[in-house]
Amino acid sequence: MASVDLSTREAGSVDEQTWIDVDHYIGDHLDVSDGALDATLSGSRAAGLPEIAVSPPQGKLLMLLAASIGARTVLEIGTLGGYSTIWLARALPSNGHLITCEYSGEHALVARKNLDGAGVGGLVDIRIGAALDTLPTLTGPFDFTFVDADKENNANYFRWAVQLSRPGSLIVIDNTVRGGAVADSSATDPATQGTRALYETVRDDPRVAATAIQTVGSKGYDGFLLARVLDVRS
Ligand code: SAH
Ligand code: DHB
Ligand code: MG
Repeated sequence: MASVDLSTREAGSVDEQTWIDVDHYIGDHLDVSDGALDATLSGSRAAGLPEIAVSPPQGKLLMLLAASIGARTVLEIGTLGGYSTIWLARALPSNGHLITCEYSGEHALVARKNLDGAGVGGLVDIRIGAALDTLPTLTGPFDFTFVDADKENNANYFRWAVQLSRPGSLIVIDNTVRGGAVADSSATDPATQGTRALYETVRDDPRVAATAIQTVGSKGYDGFLLARVLDVRS
């Protein structure tokens, strides 16, 4: 891109192309892609899956967070083609385990191929079905949970994630800013309402310490919520 002094610019005057350019700049310097990850994205696209996986820098953030707490067990809600799953599985030791919940059998098939291609298939168990049916069948604790499925259920997924955690577990929930719509109390779309219900649930839950971070990048303006579980008793 053209050389401009962005340091003095108002954030609001930086356009989406700049966010994309910076994601590419980050990718050029910080190892956020490789053959297996690229094949996962291209294979998912070829299979007709929506292009809504986490961005490469965010995928690596998930891996770094899970690795930083020495996670051995990971729970994911929303597999898609397994892109975020691969990042998370890479944080695990060879005897670690990741369970990922996916509604679509078609997505799960694509993900299985991608996970096996990335060499992490043996660590990952894909559970097909509505996550709210799968979650009651799981035995925790999970050290790290990533929630990235139907946003309408985010408050329910959060409650399940806490219940399946141990003190010190981390929970990351994707897409919690939604282009800023989260701050609009008159928003009527179910995904935004589900996200606002999530914030209220987290606010009222003394078992976690939480924050949320706004992000820009190749996926536009969004963000994620991070919660550290302090206590798991309800
Ligand atoms: N985490 C993935 C992206 C997930 S996209 C990544 O970053 O690579 C959201 C996924 O959630 C889709 O595959 C969708 O089929 C799945 N999903 C939607 N509703 C669901 C439900 N009720 N239970 C489980 N998965 C669901
Ligand atoms: C959508 C879902 C996601 O998980 C995401 O990261 C981006 C978009 C969507 O449903 O449009
Ligand atoms: Mg997402």
